[in-house]
Amino acid sequence: MTVHDSNLMETIIRCKQEKGIYIIAHYYQRDEIQDIADFIGDSYAMAVNARNSDSNIILVAGVDFMAESAAILCPGKTILSPEPAATCPMANSIKTEDILRFKEEHPDGLVVSYVNTPAEVKAYSDICCTSSNAEKILSLLPAERPIFFIPDQNLAGNVSSKLARSVTAFPSSCPIHAALTREEIIKKKQDHPEAALLVHPECDPAVVELADYVGSTAGILSYTRTSPLQEFIIATESGIRHAIWQYRPEVRLIMASDEMICPNMKSITLEKILYSIENLETVVTVPEEISKKAVLALEKMIELTSN
Ligand code: 13P
Ligand code: SF4
Repeated sequence: MTVHDSNLMETIIRCKQEKGIYIIAHYYQRDEIQDIADFIGDSYAMAVNARNSDSNIILVAGVDFMAESAAILCPGKTILSPEPAATCPMANSIKTEDILRFKEEHPDGLVVSYVNTPAEVKAYSDICCTSSNAEKILSLLPAERPIFFIPDQNLAGNVSSKLARSVTAFPSSCPIHAALTREEIIKKKQDHPEAALLVHPECDPAVVELADYVGSTAGILSYTRTSPLQEFIIATESGIRHAIWQYRPEVRLIMASDEMICPNMKSITLEKILYSIENLETVVTVPEEISKKAVLALEKMIELTSN
């Protein structure tokens, strides 16, 4: 870490304390951002933590759908984004028209929306899910109702095959996770026979099949915390390594591919966070008519997950 970074971090910590700003970050954030955050989590934990926080100003260091979820779940609180252009191409690929078409063809259908979706798509969804609870949510939905699982076809395929439940998947995927190939992974496993392979469910089912553990970023972190192993092949975004090394600094973490870097997550910097908390910009808002419908899908997810 440079002297410039540590000075910035000190200034951010002082400024957020003076203004009572609470910083929530995703595990894919840069190391130095994870270090100044008050809470670091996967997308589910970030949403629940924002909702339960007693701070009136929350800065979300993550992509736009994460800040939107916080804004929807925390009416009356100020949600700040340090980089509103940080987005998720997969989330943006699904449109409300896609949902309306499904509902027209399947009037009794249910729309399960991964949190990686814009607020207006959540407003048309019956329930949200994240990678940490998708399996549980899907297992609790009535067996006779057709399911439209949006927008990640890999998560849809991985969860539905585990539950032997067929779903209609929207044909989109995360460009970072979906790019990993089975051949690459087989080679990594040959090169590192002692390592456990930990895979995010946004990866292709052909990759997931080879995994020793499949789960959300929080799941991967907790697996490494309790495993007796010393080597892990990581098939998710590179930022998770910093979080793992906080608990297990001695372990060897081998990236499944050097390309697993989300440019949107990495577009957030310490400089942008300092600007955001000094100027209280950019405030994330969701129109009330969208928010009051989208909150139902998010709250339903939290209700089913916490029971
Ligand atoms: P989780 O942190 O919920 O595993 O999600 C991964 C992701 O890609 C978020 O954009
Ligand atoms: Fe979207 Fe993939 Fe980046 Fe997550 S890692 S924000 S799913 S592009």
